Amino acid sequence: MAKDVIIACDFPSGGETLAFLEQFETERPYVKIGMELFYGAGPDIVRAIRDRGHPIFLDLKLCDIPNTVKSAMRVLRDLGADMVNLHAFGTRAMMEAALEGLTRPDGTRALLIAVTQLTSTSEERMKKELLIDRPLSDTVLHYAENAKLAGLDGVVCSPLEAGLVHERCGMDFLTVTPGVRFSDSAVGDQVRVTTPERARTLGSDYIVVGRPITRAEDPVAAYRRCVNEFLGG
Ligand code: C5P
Repeated sequence: MAKDVIIACDFPSGGETLAFLEQFETERPYVKIGMELFYGAGPDIVRAIRDRGHPIFLDLKLCDIPNTVKSAMRVLRDLGADMVNLHAFGTRAMMEAALEGLTRPDGTRALLIAVTQLTSTSEERMKKELLIDRPLSDTVLHYAENAKLAGLDGVVCSPLEAGLVHERCGMDFLTVTPGVRFSDSAVGDQVRVTTPERARTLGSDYIVVGRPITRAEDPVAAYRRCVNEFLGG
């Protein structure tokens, strides 16, 4: 199964993103485009990065009624991303509709990944504000199962949850995991972090790494270090 390091390109403009990617002369790392960049730079940034030869994870976390998500996925499909995501919260009907919208006429499609619970949601808030009276980890695993039943390819989760998700949904069900830091780098606003090497042993399929690479003095060297540690050099 493919395992890879995805760089979270959380830059405010297309220009800054492309200038960052210019530093990579030989490698073409997997790039995550999030809401800030997509809404700021528009769909053209997806085409520009794709034309440079980078695989793309479009992290737009869709959640709406099934028909709207299906139509939106059809638009994203034509941008040529390799991985797209949505909120499992939108229910299985929405996830199934999304899959339909994402599938090209020839039957091929990008990987479709579900966000279970945002890591910014605490169990306390889930209980008090969302009136969900269950342990947070139960909801993560249940949403992952829903995503699998809907035919999706995997979930975004913490590397610490990757093993449980694989146990419940199978080894082929992908775990895409942010919250990764080098053992000697700043944690920043991430709370529960793991190193690339530990993410590998915990069973992550793709690690999403932002600031440890984008803000490194030498981003290309930081990317290579990350790949070596995660893929086992
Ligand atoms: O800079 P850093 O490595 O913390 O970036 C992680 C990326 O993964 C960011 O783009 C962040 O929005 C995203 N992410 C996350 N935690 C989640 C889901 C997405 O950190 N649960």
